[in-house]
Amino acid sequence: MNTETLLDVQGVRASYGATPILQGVDFDIARGEIVGLIGRNGVGKTTTMRCLIGQLRSSSGAVRLLGRDIAGLSSDARARCGIGYVPQGRDVFPQMTVAENLMVGELVGGPKGKKSPELVYQYFPRLAERRNQMAGTMSGGEQQQLAIGRALIGNPVLMLLDEPSEGIQPSIVQLICDVLRSIRRDLGMTILFVEQNLDTILDLAERAIVMEKGRVVGHIDPGSVDADNVRHHLML
Ligand SMILES: Nc1ncnc2c1ncn2[C@@H]1O[C@H](COP(=O)(O)OP(=O)(O)O)[C@@H](O)[C@H]1O
Ligand SMILES: [Mg+2]
Repeated sequence: MNTETLLDVQGVRASYGATPILQGVDFDIARGEIVGLIGRNGVGKTTTMRCLIGQLRSSSGAVRLLGRDIAGLSSDARARCGIGYVPQGRDVFPQMTVAENLMVGELVGGPKGKKSPELVYQYFPRLAERRNQMAGTMSGGEQQQLAIGRALIGNPVLMLLDEPSEGIQPSIVQLICDVLRSIRRDLGMTILFVEQNLDTILDLAERAIVMEKGRVVGHIDPGSVDADNVRHHLML
């Protein structure tokens, strides 16, 4: 079994202005895992993602990607190191076409062999049909597929997704989960996703990291990600 540590997060603290949010976040992710970062609204999941990609500077702690501390790098530099980010709310460029959005992904992505738009279109045939359509005119589910494609095309070693199911109809969420599993299987992608939706957590997570009040307070181990455990940790 490959247990190489891909991402190692230690003691990460971060604030918005004078308000401390992350109070020392610790976890690690092995290469090839699909891990859910779960917790109720407002516990700091998005803030953690923003510290990983570098949109927010941590005030202390370490973020190591394959052993290299990247906490001091800009978000552009982290993307070049191989972190792909699918933000909460998707954030595609609404005035650009699908194809143009994918071109932006190519520009910001990792150093090693960009993926081709054709690969993205294979995983998401809907995007191929709509390649010349303005992203802003597409449904939420289509925009989510585009946001994932835009991250994928940079050929990241680690893909971060923040609530990929949010505001999307269940059949499309299912499709997205299937594609993420295929991407992991075919490309050996490592995936860390934030999620609050029980079905999506159960569908996708091999294990889960549980946050509360700016800290990691629990883990659900591989083989134990079931409805009772997730409900218990999310206090549903
Ligand atoms: N830009 C911001 N400025 C100030 N406070 C923020 C900002 N974004 C989030 N917060 C606060 O930080 C806390 C954690 O938010 P967030 O990381 O978005 O939580 P989650 O993603 O787990 O729902 C919340 O109390 C939220 O109100
Ligand atoms: Mg959030």
